[in-house]
Amino acid sequence: MKNTVKHVKRLAAVGTVALAAFSLSPNGATAAPAEHHGSQPGTRIVGGTPAEQGEFPFMVRLSMGCGGSLVEKDVVLTAAHCVDGSGDDTSISVTGGVVDLDSPDAVTVKSTKVIQAPGYDGNGKDWAVIKLDKPIDQPTLAIAETDAYNNGDFQIAGWGADKEGGDQQTKLLKAEVPFVDDATCKSAYSNLIEDEEICAGKLDTGGIDSCQGDSGGPMFRKDDADQWVQVGIVSWGEGCARPGKPGVYTEVSTFAGDIKKAVGELG
Ligand code: ARG
Repeated sequence: MKNTVKHVKRLAAVGTVALAAFSLSPNGATAAPAEHHGSQPGTRIVGGTPAEQGEFPFMVRLSMGCGGSLVEKDVVLTAAHCVDGSGDDTSISVTGGVVDLDSPDAVTVKSTKVIQAPGYDGNGKDWAVIKLDKPIDQPTLAIAETDAYNNGDFQIAGWGADKEGGDQQTKLLKAEVPFVDDATCKSAYSNLIEDEEICAGKLDTGGIDSCQGDSGGPMFRKDDADQWVQVGIVSWGEGCARPGKPGVYTEVSTFAGDIKKAVGELG
């Protein structure tokens, strides 16, 4: 489906226009007007720092201007709002293996098939899986299968805007954001779907967040065995890094079974 979000993503990806309006949910698109940028503290992912080469080897950049994670060497987990629907799809280029997208070491492969979350309608269920025509030979990221890790401090990373209305980045940025509980997040966003979404951000000060172009990328933390585990997928927020307006992420543990099933169906 060619929805508004898709068009917004493409615009965001090439860093062109400020959109006339922005809204709260993924299907309304969350690119903010450029007029807002002066108000933003911090300068990276928003408020982040450069990731080291090899630090998050499962991170990939998608050609429509989204992030993703390698959950298999030839399967990427991303956001439903980053893709057009389900079916055979050779239109997406997936770049991995590097923090610097311009590096000669970058590995770029094509998609062959996409499965968007069944029943996705722009609210909640913001996940999709993409099969690659060749594996990207990097370590994969495990997905959280229980809610045990839906707390604490999370890592986020991406090549998206470094401030509201800012440019896409060629070098991967990372930041740490604290968990925000559902009740608190619901008071910031009445349209939050508590079972399907998990929030994170610095509520008091703002300043650190994912932003446009980070969508589809993972939010992750260490598990009890000290391994990275993915708990969220960058989905939406009001602006970026605003105080009182946390980032909203797809709650991976809720969909772990559905995601694994879809990965199986990709063949
Ligand atoms: N929907 C945005 C994208 O498509 C992600 C926005 C995340 N916003 C936030 N404040 N955390 O890239």
